[in-house]
This record gives sequence, C-alpha cells and structure tokens, in this order.
Amino acid sequence: MFRKVCLSFAAVALSAALMAAPAFSKPVIIKFSHVVAENTPKGQMANKFRDLVNERLKGKVEVEVYPNSQLFGDNKVLEAMLLGDVQMAAPALSKFSRYTKKLQLFDLPFLFKDIASVDRFQQSDAGKGLLNSISKKGLIGLGYLHNGLKQLSSSKPLRVPADAKGLKFRIMSSDVLAAQFKAVKATPLKKPFSEVFTLLQTKAIDGQENTWSNIYSKKFFEVQPYITESNHGLLDYMVVTSAEFWQGLPEDVRAEVKKAMEEAIAFGNKVALEKSLDDKQKIIDSKRSEIITLTPEQRAQWVEVMKPVWKEFEAQVGKDMIDAAYGSNK
Ligand code: LMR
Repeated sequence: MFRKVCLSFAAVALSAALMAAPAFSKPVIIKFSHVVAENTPKGQMANKFRDLVNERLKGKVEVEVYPNSQLFGDNKVLEAMLLGDVQMAAPALSKFSRYTKKLQLFDLPFLFKDIASVDRFQQSDAGKGLLNSISKKGLIGLGYLHNGLKQLSSSKPLRVPADAKGLKFRIMSSDVLAAQFKAVKATPLKKPFSEVFTLLQTKAIDGQENTWSNIYSKKFFEVQPYITESNHGLLDYMVVTSAEFWQGLPEDVRAEVKKAMEEAIAFGNKVALEKSLDDKQKIIDSKRSEIITLTPEQRAQWVEVMKPVWKEFEAQVGKDMIDAAYGSNK
C-alpha cells in the first residue's frame, strides 16, 4: 500500500515535471536492461530505441541501455521494474510465468512453422490480446520482438529423441520447457542466461536450446561440438514497462516514446531475420560445431514425443489459443 502510494505520487510528480519542462529540468531516464549481447536482435533494437528517443526527445527523456545482464539478470528484472529501478526490458516470453500462465503458449514445442507464422499470430486479435496478460501485475506489454526459432546444442550428436536421454539441458524458467525435455527423458535445469557459457564449458550441463544469434554471440558454439538444426521452439520477447511509469508520462511524450519503440521493434525484427541466417553461417564457417540436419523421419520422432506437452498445458493456456496459434501456420 505504502509503495503504491509512493509510486502514484512519483508518477504524478514525473508528469508535472515533464509538463512544466523548464530548460534546466532533468530529463526522465529510461533504463533499458537486457541480458544478451549488443550484436543481437534485442541488443540492436534497444540501441535503436535509445538513439531515436535521445534524438527526438532531447532534454526531456534519455534512454540508457544496459546489455549483457550488467544491471539485472533474467530473474530479477521484472521485480526491479515494479520497484522503479528499471523502466524497460524485453524478457523472453518464456520468463513471465510468475506473472501469467497465458504466455506459456509460445513455449509449446513445434507450434510455429516459421517466423512469418509467429508474426501472423502475434498481429491477430488473439495474439495482441496476450500483450495485456500481465496488466493485472502492474506491467504493460508494449510489443513483441522476434529473435527466432531455437536449435539444440549438445556435447553429443542429437538425431533422434533417444539421443537426449539422460543428458542435462539448461532451460529458461519455463515449466513448458521443463516438460519438453522430460518428454525425451532428459534433465532440464532452469538457469539464468548469464550462467550458460560457464555451465557448458565446465561440463556441468550437456546442452542447451537457443537461437543462432544467441549461440553465436555468447560463444556457446565454441564449447558445444554439435548443434541440431531442430527449429523446435520459439524464442521471442515482449517489450515491457511498468504501468506506473508509463501512465506517469505526459501523453505527447508517451506517444513519441511509443512511436520510437515501434520503429525500433521493426528494425530489431529485420535484424532477427538477417542474424538467423548470418550467425548460423558464421558458426558453420568456424568449424567449431558440427551442424546436424534432421531427416524428415528423424524430425517426426521429435514431434511425436514432444507434442503431448501441448495437452499438459492446454488448461493453462487455453485450447482456443493453441488452435489460433497453430492455425497461423500456412
Ligand atoms: C535465454 O535465456 O536463453 C534467452 O532468453 C536470452 C535472451 O534474452 O535472448
């Protein structure tokens, strides 16, 4: 209660300060915290957003970007946002389960065929509606951002599900992802992104799942001899801010910030498409990892063992939503 009153007071004060905007007043600072490298879709999007806002709202709003878990790691950033210690972030959709179960939809294995299908779903009414799924917790979804489809990296070649049996895989903090690895009789371990490289390097774990850009930019390919091009799941983001902060901005400033965010997201999505090809090629060229291409029969085996996970989570995410998302594949 006390915190809520303080935050409301802060929001009113912020609004008043911005409206008065005397030449000598300090700009509102937007700290944007994320966990990936700058040379990734999210890193590039955040930097673009910073550049656009700092140019267009000079003296009124200033964006500071903190990449590589410098400010907050995965598991703290949303808490920090509700306390006002950070104003924006774009966690993977897999990292919201403490705030809503609805976004677990995006983690269901083999749900989307490609990013164009993901796009169609996210831009539909059903998809857009999910941006509001965290509003009761004081958070606002400003938009989706793509990274790409995930691949499986491992210390052993993975061709069929039985190859994964008994291996330890790092996962994001998602029960769907845990169920997905349990389905192939592997052991899932929820760990922050910042720890993955060391866990792989020291062989504390055997493998992980991620996109080409994360595998490349965080050098996982240097410590994982095999990468199976499985495209089995999605790694996308939701750009979020706190309702207190957002509503405290004067309307005209908020509109400008939103516009800059939309442009930055469009830019980030373009980077995501490019990087899914370029970073894969860089990994191939490095010859550090062997890329395993699945035959249609091998792929069908992974689908068969992992697909029952959909049923397990149907009650939490809604059958209608699963149907809508799957229906976006063409
Ligand atoms: C991960 O933890 O593997 C990803 O969510 C990191 C990211 O933000 O892309």
